[in-house]
Amino acid sequence: MTSATQPRIQWLGRWGFLLAATGSAVGLGNIWKFPYITGEFGGGAFVLVYLACILAVGVPVMMTEIAFGRRGRGSPIDAIRRVVNESGGGSAWSLIGWMAMLCGFLILSFYVVVAGWSFSYLWKMLSGGLSGENVDDMVAVFVANNENPLNLGFWSTLVALLTMFIVGKGVQEGIEKNVSWMMPGLVVMLLVLIVYGMFSGGFGEAVTFLFSFNAGSLSSEGMLAALGHAFFTLSLASGAILTYGSYLPKNASIARTTLGVAAADTVVALMAGLAIFPVIFANGMNPGQGPGLIFMSLPLAFDAMPFGTLFGILFFAMLSMAALTSSISMVEATVSWLCDNKGLSRRAAAWGTGIVLWLVSTLAMLSFNLGAEWMLAGKNVFDWLDYLTARWMMPLGGLGTVVLAGFVLKSDAFREELGLSPLLYTLWLTMVRYVTPLGILVVFTDALGIYSV
Ligand code: PFF
Ligand code: NA
Repeated sequence: MTSATQPRIQWLGRWGFLLAATGSAVGLGNIWKFPYITGEFGGGAFVLVYLACILAVGVPVMMTEIAFGRRGRGSPIDAIRRVVNESGGGSAWSLIGWMAMLCGFLILSFYVVVAGWSFSYLWKMLSGGLSGENVDDMVAVFVANNENPLNLGFWSTLVALLTMFIVGKGVQEGIEKNVSWMMPGLVVMLLVLIVYGMFSGGFGEAVTFLFSFNAGSLSSEGMLAALGHAFFTLSLASGAILTYGSYLPKNASIARTTLGVAAADTVVALMAGLAIFPVIFANGMNPGQGPGLIFMSLPLAFDAMPFGTLFGILFFAMLSMAALTSSISMVEATVSWLCDNKGLSRRAAAWGTGIVLWLVSTLAMLSFNLGAEWMLAGKNVFDWLDYLTARWMMPLGGLGTVVLAGFVLKSDAFREELGLSPLLYTLWLTMVRYVTPLGILVVFTDALGIYSV
């Protein structure tokens, strides 16, 4: 029995959801953000906490979100409302859905800027504008690329347009097709970089940096960043996974799909670390460089290796594609909600959302040039969008989701949706009731400084 009130389109084919969810998860979070925040927070200890958060928080939250989506057959707001109506709980719980929808939108508004970097570097690779002797040259290229708002704005606008174009075309046509060849391609490119790294002199240092756990070296802020990144990298609490789950056929296994997506995402992130840090150490760069880290380092590797231009083109092409399969998932909640509730066509919903998005993303883009001085509490617009979503909205949204599923709902909805053996169901329930919420709460309150008195 389902609580669907209307028939809903479903993924075409057995692999539709898995491909789309993997496409959503694997993106700039893995290849751009994971290395740069790992560098910022000092390596091994951060990586360990991040991996723990994937297992203890990310996996249970993802299962719960997919179950909400499939049970409620709608965008986060509608799906949560339907499940709550069926299973008990007040209507205020749909606030989780509103926050998720807003969160996906806010993430996209800075994500298009980073994706714009990727597209512009692809263009530079193609047109020969990415050669340089040393780190300073590459830093100069990055800075010059940001300096002119018309240039940077061109690339972020291009990404916004492509995203809305694909989303407007619809679930089946737009999303499923590219992931199956792009993902293996990306992995091959990372392997090329890793093999190059093994001969470049920085590999040992990179492995030590990433995997030697030096207890005590992680600040509470770093722990919160690791938690937030677990949400970000798995596309959680942003409406993406929940809404994709609403198109999932009843017979698919939620647990198995979740584990597949989480594993693929984690493997790509760790490979990205192994690909990037050797270049950083071999060239004497500071790993805590910030958001420009991969753009300042990887071109040096491509410049030095055989067939580097070809590999560089392929790498940035696939990174740009990976960014797009993620960006389209960030507005799926909003577009789906507009279609279901406001009677808009997908096309109208996508372009309407796109206009507002473009305005906010332009503010984020200006953080790297004209608006570099528009600071509030030491953060520019770009930083604020990242900070608000990853450190606040996603952990809180995730907490609400598991508390709702674990304690508030009184029916067998989740038992039915998850379809697990009694033992595994108990494991899931234990996680969402105790392990996940406690994990989130401890990290969160720790970062607020509550224990430091
Ligand atoms: N998971 C994506 C990445 O790692 O690049 C980012 C993301 C996608 C976050 C979709 C949130 C979202 F809803
Ligand atoms: Na990811």
